[in-house]
Amino acid sequence: MFEILKRTEMAQGSVVLNELSAPQIAAKALPGQFVILRANETGERIPLTMADTNPERGTVTIIYQVVGKSTALFADMKVGERFLDIIGPLGKPTKIENVGTVVCVGGGTGVAVMHPITKALKQAGNHVISIIGSRTKDLLILEDKMKAASHDLHVCTDDGSYGHHGFVTDKLKEMLDSMDVGLVVGIGPVPMMKFVCKMTEQYKVKTLVSLNSIMVDGTGMCGCCRVTVGDQTRFACVDGPEFDGHQVDFNELATRLQAYTQFEKQAMDKYKCECQR
Ligand SMILES: Cc1cc2nc3c(=O)[nH]c(=O)nc-3n(C[C@H](O)[C@H](O)[C@H](O)COP(=O)(O)OP(=O)(O)OC[C@H]3O[C@@H](n4cnc5c(N)ncnc54)[C@H](O)[C@@H]3O)c2cc1C
Ligand code: FES
Repeated sequence: MFEILKRTEMAQGSVVLNELSAPQIAAKALPGQFVILRANETGERIPLTMADTNPERGTVTIIYQVVGKSTALFADMKVGERFLDIIGPLGKPTKIENVGTVVCVGGGTGVAVMHPITKALKQAGNHVISIIGSRTKDLLILEDKMKAASHDLHVCTDDGSYGHHGFVTDKLKEMLDSMDVGLVVGIGPVPMMKFVCKMTEQYKVKTLVSLNSIMVDGTGMCGCCRVTVGDQTRFACVDGPEFDGHQVDFNELATRLQAYTQFEKQAMDKYKCECQR
């Protein structure tokens, strides 16, 4: 179990796709849910969203950006190697409803998280418009899959190397100005989700976001993933990871994500030096 069956490099190798054997998880997983993986006995527990599942083949697909020691270790694993453990499916699945027109806004590796949700929203009969973005053309992922999952796809790059020259929020504004939108789903870096929510608040359009808070146990016991939503403390692992974006304290989330930056850098430097597993 948990064998790597497929490994593909995306976004110039800075993002890696692994298809893994995990039949029990594949049989139960729903859009919006995630898994926690550990490469080996001394490995950290890393939360990643399932970008796709195939219950017939018993596989789960994860797509991750290489940002620190653990994701670098994952990226070094080859086809045929196995993760020590994978737990899931975790978190509440996305509430899939027919609301008419939905705009799905994905940024960076957030597009991987968005993909199964977009497919499910289309299957539920919504008219789905997707807007995906990246800093530059070479970092864009899953364009073809998002095209197939949506009725209409718009691509944006910060540097103008492909599609619209500008942020995903520019295209979102065009949609909100020109049509009746029932729901916006925004998934990507914290600043992107924050600005998507600021915009949709003005148009009074319900907005879901998926929060990438730091997680350890994934069961609601350790408190690491706590976020403030409205005036309540919620645990992203069991109460989320999706929340009403208009209620999320994004500034607190950004601060909490930086809490271990110094230790993360030390761990990465040590890994690069020793290439220790
Ligand atoms: C529910 C959920 C789903 C996620 N899905 C995806 C996904 O599909 N693809 C993807 O690329 N990333 C995803 N992430 C983020 C991913 O878990 C982190 O990038 C990863 O844990 C970083 O580990 P690292 O050791 O490589 O980097 P580190 O050196 O530990 O950290 C680098 C950065 O990653 C963030 N981070 C560190 N540890 C965690 C943690 N345990 N949880 C969340 N963020 C952390 C910190 O902000 C830090 O700045 C998800 C996070 C959550 C909570
Ligand atoms: S990860 Fe421990 S409470 Fe959520």
